Amino acid sequence: MNDLPKQTSPNHDIVSQMRQLITVLKQHNHAYYVLDNPTISDSEYDDIRKRLIALEEQYPQLRQPDSPTDSVGDKPLPAFMQIKHDIAMLSLGNVFSYDELIAFMRRINDRLDQSHQNPEYEMELKLDGLAVSLKYVHGKFSQALTRGDGRVGEDITLNIKTIRNLPLFLPKCTNIDLLEIRGEVLMPKAGFARLNKQAIERGEKTFANPRNAAAGSLRQLNPAIAAARPLAFFGYSVNQGLPSDITSQSGALAYLRELGFETTPVQTARSAKDIQAYYDDVARTRSDLPFEIDGMVIKVNSLALQEDLGFLSREPRWATAYKFAAESAVTRLMAVEWQVGRTGQLTPVGKLEPVSVGGVTVSNVTLHNFGEIGRLGLMVGDMVSIHRAGDVIPKVGGVMVDLRPSDAQSIELPTSCPVCESPVVLPEGEALARCTGGLFCAAQAKEALIHFVSRRAMDIDGLGKQWLISFHDMGLIKTVADIYRLPTHQQTLVTLEGLGEKSVQNMFAAIEKSKATTLPRFIFALGIRGVGESTAMNLATAFGDLPQLQQASIDKLLSVPDVGEITAHNIYDFFRAVHNIEVINALITLGVHWQPFTAQTDLPLDGQTWVVTGTLSAMGRDEAKAHLQALGAKVSGSVSAKTAVVLAGEKAGSKLDKANSLGVTVLDESAFLALLHEHQRT
Ligand code: IVH
Repeated sequence: MNDLPKQTSPNHDIVSQMRQLITVLKQHNHAYYVLDNPTISDSEYDDIRKRLIALEEQYPQLRQPDSPTDSVGDKPLPAFMQIKHDIAMLSLGNVFSYDELIAFMRRINDRLDQSHQNPEYEMELKLDGLAVSLKYVHGKFSQALTRGDGRVGEDITLNIKTIRNLPLFLPKCTNIDLLEIRGEVLMPKAGFARLNKQAIERGEKTFANPRNAAAGSLRQLNPAIAAARPLAFFGYSVNQGLPSDITSQSGALAYLRELGFETTPVQTARSAKDIQAYYDDVARTRSDLPFEIDGMVIKVNSLALQEDLGFLSREPRWATAYKFAAESAVTRLMAVEWQVGRTGQLTPVGKLEPVSVGGVTVSNVTLHNFGEIGRLGLMVGDMVSIHRAGDVIPKVGGVMVDLRPSDAQSIELPTSCPVCESPVVLPEGEALARCTGGLFCAAQAKEALIHFVSRRAMDIDGLGKQWLISFHDMGLIKTVADIYRLPTHQQTLVTLEGLGEKSVQNMFAAIEKSKATTLPRFIFALGIRGVGESTAMNLATAFGDLPQLQQASIDKLLSVPDVGEITAHNIYDFFRAVHNIEVINALITLGVHWQPFTAQTDLPLDGQTWVVTGTLSAMGRDEAKAHLQALGAKVSGSVSAKTAVVLAGEKAGSKLDKANSLGVTVLDESAFLALLHEHQRT
């Protein structure tokens, strides 16, 4: 009769081995799904599980009823069966503000008699997943239904069985004929991120959010697929079979936890003020939770009072959801305007049909750059989803192409700057379009002015930044050429508070002095993108004077040391913007001048190898390197006996030590700056 293998150890040894494996598996399930902090790898987990399965196969009669291996075969289901709920699954009403909360609480007071006014409320998190109803018969899990239409749900028993944190056997409930527990199935954020990462790696479609991922997982006809999805169950109510000594919602949740279910944290309060304080707390810390919530649920705590209050047609009177303002919304893109930033970049701004997102009305949204418009496939007239979380600026999450109207219009990059009408360029392979009118464009004026007067450019130190900006704001200075026209405003200037006759004279003297400059300084002062001091020096060396530089072809520009594709185009485009040329001509007419630049043919550092180490205060290491190269030096990364000089900034380390031990010449920053000055590099 008994065909079991002969047991070599007493039954209780096998049982205790099984119990041990079950405990370990449950701990890891908790760590993985609830804490989102797995402490072992998936394969290690599988190994433990396999060991338990092996024992269960060998000793089926000792199999523990709560074994987590009690999951499903991988036979696909034909379809989900429709089953009627014993008790309808209703939804919840909503409140969105403190005033609405007070109105909800007032409605409750109005229905309660005098002795039950201001009842205690119990608060839970509103988990953002899917509602399910679970049945346990004599403590054994027997059925799971979706909410469906509230009256009839779908039988997803096999999929639910694969959820790792769900107890399948409740040893304390074997005497309860039928226990019905309701709660939420959700996918923790970390599991969601992993799932989407895997999908991307496999070139599959990703899920938009954890809730969709959870829903998609439960709808799998093949439970083996659902089993591989990181789902978790959180109980929030006991709808049948609750022991009669439990008389409150918080008591019911404590009971669920005792049975081994996960629940949301619970808090109780009586006043609207305290409820609001808890809500504010939850709203502030929600991003720290391992799963997503969309608000808080407030329930009258006493089950007897819940019964007295009863239901409206589709929702209980005794509970409501205090929801967070939606952080995304759908609206129409009405137009696109282009804004010009202070460095000339053109940013498209979407004009929206105003919509409330996260409690704030949004009518403009940055589209970042022209490349982003292409990436989104966006057209004017499209319906777009707008996202915003916390204080984060709103952004377009996606375009509903299916809803595109027939008169939708494509979005073109403007050919001329909306501020100064200079040509707009979009360098190949770049997302950012730019206005080329750097010297003329009002949007870029402040940047251009500050750069122009700076010490390493035209060096007008008597004209401080504050005054420069004030003069610009007063309309006295529009372009850099107007700096040299300031003396015509002498009468106005001397009357300004803080500017006396004397300081105006000093200012004019500094302006006058700056007229005699050098070609490299002047080129640098123009503020062409990508043209720093050393590139300006290299351009001056290569072209000798401004007209030659102005007329240079892209190829010619590319032959200059330090000038790459992008900078070559920036220089070329800069000198093709008519307004820039007008400003340059005005500067020359107003007296700015320089000597033609003759480069030294015998470079002073020819044949020397330098090493730059430590931190320099006046410039970055790359800039120092560019200066050294322009003076003929080779710059190397390591110190050897062949090193001619080590330039050591602050906190120089092992390279300096090595230089000292090899007896290599060491220069500090001030000596280096003196050297640059001597060779007209500063
Ligand atoms: S209690 C009579 N508690 O919210 C309905 N629901 O909008 C009692 N939900 O369908 C529901 N977290 O899916 C309750 N702590 C919680 C909840 C919660 C999320 C969901 C549930 C329900 C929906 C109603």
